[in-house]
Amino acid sequence: MTLRSWRIQVARPPHRVMLLVGAILVLSVGAVTCSVPTGDGMGDNGNAIDPVFPANYRETFTEVRDCRFSSSHPGMIRVLVNDIGASAYLNDQNPLPVGSIIVKETFEGTTCENTNELSLWSAMRKEAAGFDPVDADWYWQDVLPDRTVLNDTKARCIACHQVDACLARDYMCTTP
Ligand code: HEC
Repeated sequence: MTLRSWRIQVARPPHRVMLLVGAILVLSVGAVTCSVPTGDGMGDNGNAIDPVFPANYRETFTEVRDCRFSSSHPGMIRVLVNDIGASAYLNDQNPLPVGSIIVKETFEGTTCENTNELSLWSAMRKEAAGFDPVDADWYWQDVLPDRTVLNDTKARCIACHQVDACLARDYMCTTP
């Protein structure tokens, strides 16, 4: 299909397009309200789970580990933490405060500049005591660049983060 014919098709029924966009918005907002994690990024009611970090996290989160080559994934990484956890992370506090949100950005390429090269977010949020007493009450997520939650249990994360060097810093692995 040429660009020209695509334009004409979209231009003809604008009200339908707007209705569709509206319906998708309503559905996606409604979907996140009462879903409980089950591990595959979908809640117990089949609805999508929200990422633990806001879309505009870069405006408020502090960079606690600067851009470097990742030892766990091919690519470059950078770590940012919200206000609740930033100074605690920087001071190797163990445990970090409830409400701390840690976001690791992974980039293809050789810098952490280009958001088009961002391939994955890995995120952890410190929950209230009792959430996961075995592993210090962290909630774990991998999130795709379109903010789809890929998985939301510790199953694919915990083996690496349980090594002594990470345990000493409340499961944090990135060295200064
Ligand atoms: C293969 C081992 C491995 C696996 C699996 C793994 N991690 Fe990590 N993670 C690391 C290492 C090593 C670091 C230190 C930074 C780096 O080199 O990437 C790290 C760093 C992080 C950080 C930055 C905070 C910090 O300093 O530790 C977050 C957040 C994170 N990982 C979340 C996750 C989540 C969520 C999962 C599972 C979905 C996961 N990781 C799976 C090894 C792993």
